[in-house]
Amino acid sequence: MNNIIANWKMDLNINQGVDLAKEFKGLFEKEKDNLKNTNIALCPPFTHLFSISKILSDSKVSLGAQNMFWESGGDFTGEISPQWLKELGCDFVILGHSERRTFLNENYNHVHKKINVAIEYGLQPIVCVGETRDQRDKGLKEYVVLRQLEEALSGINLNNSKLLIAYEPVWAIGTGLIIDPEEIEYMSRIILQKAIDLFSGSDIKNQIYILYGGSVNSQNIDSFMKYPTIEGALIGGASLNAKEFLSICKKANNF
Ligand code: PGA
Repeated sequence: MNNIIANWKMDLNINQGVDLAKEFKGLFEKEKDNLKNTNIALCPPFTHLFSISKILSDSKVSLGAQNMFWESGGDFTGEISPQWLKELGCDFVILGHSERRTFLNENYNHVHKKINVAIEYGLQPIVCVGETRDQRDKGLKEYVVLRQLEEALSGINLNNSKLLIAYEPVWAIGTGLIIDPEEIEYMSRIILQKAIDLFSGSDIKNQIYILYGGSVNSQNIDSFMKYPTIEGALIGGASLNAKEFLSICKKANNF
């Protein structure tokens, strides 16, 4: 099963978000027979979730959040409980996105705590990993990603939950730069091997999915989805256009 996840980031005001969700839902309903192998989720900003959850409530398009806190309630001003996300109908939550690591000093210790609580509340974590340009230029990309995975995932009990790991080289996000698809495959194999080491008792094939993210669009999605270790994509900019996003989903569905 492939997973195509739309990350709307802090784009679109509430009305624009509602309009985009309605438009995408309409397009999806016409094409749903061609999208049976693909889980599709929209991850709007928190403030849009309530309205969009109503739009998607009778649809196979899932809802996700872009972040959450590692406790379910209490004195944590400004934070959002995983329990409320579940109550709103979210199935997914993006954790540790590079923009949060860069601008808000989020680290993999935080991400680790969030993964545990997301699983407890029945949210599928989409855990983001990836090296910066500088780390890559120094030949450190494997080291960096393996270390991120170790910190985020060691000791996590998956139970029956699914876990999505998005490999997103930081320098490829929002830049229009897509890395060599063979390199995406190479990194996906490294990530898969690490997941096998970390979750030896789990049903890796049905519980762990590796996604790619970073300037993905309908023109380049085929180039890496053809590799069996890659089972989806996390899409930013290209998910803000309903037709383009549908076209990505349809292409991914062929693999
Ligand atoms: P992009 O964003 O598709 O705009 O590069 C991807 C992401 O940040 O997840």
